[in-house]
Amino acid sequence: MEAGRVVVAKEELDKRIAELGAQISSDYKSRDLLLLGILKGSVVFLTELMRHITVPHKIDFISVSSYGVGARESSGLVHVQAIPDIAGYDVLIVEDIIDTGYTLDYLKRRLLKQNPASLRICCLLDKTERRKVIVPIDYRGFSVPNVYLVGFGLDADEYFRNLPYVAELEE
Ligand code: IMP
Ligand code: MG
Repeated sequence: MEAGRVVVAKEELDKRIAELGAQISSDYKSRDLLLLGILKGSVVFLTELMRHITVPHKIDFISVSSYGVGARESSGLVHVQAIPDIAGYDVLIVEDIIDTGYTLDYLKRRLLKQNPASLRICCLLDKTERRKVIVPIDYRGFSVPNVYLVGFGLDADEYFRNLPYVAELEE
C-alpha cells in the first residue's frame, strides 16, 4: 500500500484554503462562528483553514464514523459521539471529503436538533459522482475523481494522514 499519483498538490491546497478562509471571514463578520471539525480526517484541513480566518471564532470536534474499520466504502450507518453544545452558534461543519453524502446528511439533521443559530458545510474535497443523497456544500475546495485518496488528513487504515498533498492510493 503506497501513495501514488498526486491528485491535489500542496501549492493548490495552500491557495484554495486561503481563498476559503477569506470567503468565510467575509461571510461571518459579526457572527458567533464555531468551526466543528469531523474527526479525524478534517484535522489537517481545519487547522490550516483557521489560520486564514480573520474573524473571531471557536473550534470544536465531533467524532462520526460511517465506515467499518479497514473498509473503503461508506456503510450508510453513521455513529455520532458526544455532541458539543452548539446552541446559538453559527456552526460551520468542516469535513475532509464528501463521498456518498450519508455522513454529512445524517450529521446535519442531527445537529439541527441542537438549535444552532445557523449551520453550513465546508468540505475540502468532493467526489461528486459518488453522491447518494443530496447535501448542499456551502464551501467546497476541490472536485476530485472517484478514486481512493490519501493525505492531508485522509487515511488508509489510519496511515498517510501526514502527507502535505492529496494522492491516489495504490494497493
Ligand atoms: P460519505 O458518508 O460516503 O460521504 O463518506 C465520507 C467519509 O468517508 C469521509 O469523511 C472520509 O472519512 C471517508 N472517505 C470517503 N472517501 C475517502 C477517500 O477517498 N479516502 C479516505 N477517506 C474517504
Ligand atoms: Mg471523515
